Amino acid sequence: MRPRRFRATGPLTGRIRVPGDKSISHRSIMLGALAVGETRVTGLLEGEDVLSTAAAMRAIGAHIERTAAAESGGGRAMGADVQRTGEGSWTIHGVGVGSLLQPRTALDMGNSGTSTRLLMGLVASHPITATFIGDASLSKRPMGRVIDPLSTMGADFTSAPGGTLPLTLRGIAPAVPISYRLPVASAQVKSAILLAGLNTPGITTVIEPVPTRDHSERMLKGFGADLQVEVEADGTRIIRLVGEAELKPQVIAVPGDPSSAAFFVVAALLVPGSDLVIENVGLNPTRAALFDVLRAMGGSIEALDPREVGGEPVADLRVRHSLLTGIEVDPAVVPSMVDEFPVLFVAAAIAQGRTVTRGLEELRVKESDRIAVMRAALELAGATVTETADGLIIDGTGGDPLSGTGAEPIATHLDHRIAMSMAVAGLASRAGVEVDDCRPIATSFPAFEGLLDGAMPVADRA
Ligand code: S3P
Repeated sequence: MRPRRFRATGPLTGRIRVPGDKSISHRSIMLGALAVGETRVTGLLEGEDVLSTAAAMRAIGAHIERTAAAESGGGRAMGADVQRTGEGSWTIHGVGVGSLLQPRTALDMGNSGTSTRLLMGLVASHPITATFIGDASLSKRPMGRVIDPLSTMGADFTSAPGGTLPLTLRGIAPAVPISYRLPVASAQVKSAILLAGLNTPGITTVIEPVPTRDHSERMLKGFGADLQVEVEADGTRIIRLVGEAELKPQVIAVPGDPSSAAFFVVAALLVPGSDLVIENVGLNPTRAALFDVLRAMGGSIEALDPREVGGEPVADLRVRHSLLTGIEVDPAVVPSMVDEFPVLFVAAAIAQGRTVTRGLEELRVKESDRIAVMRAALELAGATVTETADGLIIDGTGGDPLSGTGAEPIATHLDHRIAMSMAVAGLASRAGVEVDDCRPIATSFPAFEGLLDGAMPVADRA
């Protein structure tokens, strides 16, 4: 365990740059490994989850190396000095669709649900057997949602009770193409099926009643796969992928992760006097709903210099301290900010009035049960919170800081986003917030604490 108390130390100012998008980083490695030739990636997130994907892809045949050191951070985030995070350049020598190899040992996916579910898709349509293992958090997460469609394609599974890890997958080639309507709004399930479809003869179809992040579709097209998306009048997306694809290597610049930027956006909104620019934030509409919700709450978030990076919309976000007002969050936006609710709850706890969230059942099966864990965490920090079956109702302080925690620390349950959200709560509290374990932050955002310390006044630092 690595506990830490996060305290109010003054405004967040200057310019920072958050690390590369986690979802895009995973996919860059996986598709790079399936293209024939050398894919080059800059801005790759060097967090533990992505490194788990890289290690697993090496174990099944890809050559992956880091070719340039990360740009160093250093110093305060003042003036033109941009604080940077680890963003190395990587090359991936792909083996081609259909040529993945039998791994010699179990694939250790650490804490990463995305690595596990997407790789299960890749392995399912190759004639190899792989065992997937993970940490205590990942070992509780449901894999049935991926096992079901991949079994229909012909793969065979043995899992722990309840469809959890450890799990052994016997892939099959040729697999059978399916047409699958997603029973849960999940980009991981969609992506697992599409990745399995790459080495499957015929057309694999995923029907998505509620749109989820579309990085897989964008990137598959970028790598040269024959993929079509049809949008019906009610918004349902029908994604068709022609199998036995030949992918061409790419040069990819990974944009900054909006899910990581989210912590700094909320911190700057909540801490009086803050005026922070976060550079190069990915604003794909299937990811960026948090920023719209915060604006609707009265948050000052300006998108500067909108542009495209790696086929994704990107801008620099200028965020200034704002008094927020509670809101009813439309359940329709949930998939476009599914990872951002823990930090939205923190914003709501300091807003004026009531915030109501619904339709968040999926949050109960993330790295932790993020509804129950955030309810307990915010209560411990002095917030007024009611838990419902599918969300939280939060009555905010009206802009006053939370009381903060006493001796009992926040239990983060191996969940990076709980740790970072409650760190942000600590900045907007009187006594500070004690987080029980900061180690999981390294799964998605190893530079988080350094950036936070750099964006706040040095003299006041705890
Ligand atoms: C992800 C999809 C989401 C998200 C996760 C990353 C992805 O999961 O929570 O952090 O990269 O596809 P679900 O698809 O299960 O909602």
